[in-house]
Amino acid sequence: MVRGLGADEIPGKDCVLIIGKGAREDCVAELILASKRRVSIVVISEFETPGFLAKAKKVYKGPTDDPVFVRKVAAEEKPLFAFVGPEEPLAAGVVDALEEMGIPCVGPKKKLAEIEWSKSFARELLTKHRIPGNPKYKIFRTPDGIQDFLKELGAFVVKPDGLTGGKGVRIFGEHLHSFAEAESYARQILTLKRPVVIEEKLDGEEFSLQSFCDGTNVVDMPVVQDHKRAFEGDTGPNTGGMGSYSCADFGMPFLAGEDIREAGRINRAVAHALREETGGAYKGILYGGFIATRDGVRLIEYNARFGDPEAMNVLPLLKTDFVAICEAVIKGNLDELDVAFDRKFTVCKYVVPQGYPTSPEKDSPIGNIPSPSENLKVYHAAVDKKQSGEIHLTGSRAIALVAMGDTMSEAERTAEDAARSVTGPVRHRSDIGTRQLIEKRINHMADIRSGVVEPGFRDAV
Ligand code: AMP
Ligand code: GLY
Repeated sequence: MVRGLGADEIPGKDCVLIIGKGAREDCVAELILASKRRVSIVVISEFETPGFLAKAKKVYKGPTDDPVFVRKVAAEEKPLFAFVGPEEPLAAGVVDALEEMGIPCVGPKKKLAEIEWSKSFARELLTKHRIPGNPKYKIFRTPDGIQDFLKELGAFVVKPDGLTGGKGVRIFGEHLHSFAEAESYARQILTLKRPVVIEEKLDGEEFSLQSFCDGTNVVDMPVVQDHKRAFEGDTGPNTGGMGSYSCADFGMPFLAGEDIREAGRINRAVAHALREETGGAYKGILYGGFIATRDGVRLIEYNARFGDPEAMNVLPLLKTDFVAICEAVIKGNLDELDVAFDRKFTVCKYVVPQGYPTSPEKDSPIGNIPSPSENLKVYHAAVDKKQSGEIHLTGSRAIALVAMGDTMSEAERTAEDAARSVTGPVRHRSDIGTRQLIEKRINHMADIRSGVVEPGFRDAV
């Protein structure tokens, strides 16, 4: 059943502008087109992916983070509203530019998106508003005291302030092997005129809690676990995310219900703190990256948008009309909508170029991309459709395959078979969603919590 559409439509406009370039936005486009509102879409993207070309009335190829370009397109198309997918346009003030023209947006204004584009702002907001979840941390604007704080922590993480696509964070024992090495990295960041956040290294299992937020009301989506490392067994360099899974009860087999409730409380408190701090309403997706530790839930970072791949786990499960949700986010009446999700397991696997992320294969053709079916979604990311009809790699994550099932193993098998069928110089992580890897997570958490295993999904997994 599709819920949520009322009679109160905004008349005279019939298209939605999507800003973004990847599989996440391809998924958003699919949901908008499936709305009862019968809107069309236009897209601003750096790539003309087959997904956008098939779905959009028009694809404007160009910079997504250039407010001038975005305003030009918006003036031409006069969209009902805009949906902003990635962090760069949010940080560049694209929402501010559109709202000045009277075009409402799903996506926060620049000042509110600071929760993502400045890690120091996020940490200080929690501290100032007494919101739990911060590890021990300090922000440095000069090298004074860095050595002492590294020694005090013993195990630490060094982060540049600002957007780095997840690639600027360096962790003791993985990328940094001594205090001297850590200090030198911190000094290097300072020379770029960026503050450095140094924080306690946390041990635990990470999870993502994405919430719809209308400035006042916060509605949580099912929890998802992403896989950042390039290779099987969580080895190799960090990537944008190689794949992810979610469970039919909207939790994780290694989390207690209280962990998820705590993360939800933190998301709510942050939405309200942002309003107090900036005087503005946060309208969009608030994504908390959390880690369950021996001492409870801690915050790793905030994102001011959907996760990629995490969006693709939860959006296909949505039973409520997505355009109705977007309108409620804009109008501030999410509390009047019944936002519901299907109780299915999901597994997303990204097919990526050989050599990704360090020296990815580019401009080679790939083939045999599976067709979507009832239990399989296929979303296009960094691929170009050539005039010949061939699909070429452009160097980043290429195709996301998202399977749904009544058990985790059913969803995993469907996603794995689909990922394996793609031909060309590509690879994917075969272990995402497998019983073996999920049991490793359960056992890791049980070790941390001194042997206590949460009752739950082992049978379903
Ligand atoms: P971020 O860009 O802040 O999401 O960090 C990228 C990745 O670094 C996270 O997904 C974590 O795996 C890791 N990380 C960040 N902060 C910490 C921390 N305080 N302790 C342990 N790992 C961390
Ligand atoms: N999946 C991690 C991110 O979207 O930042």
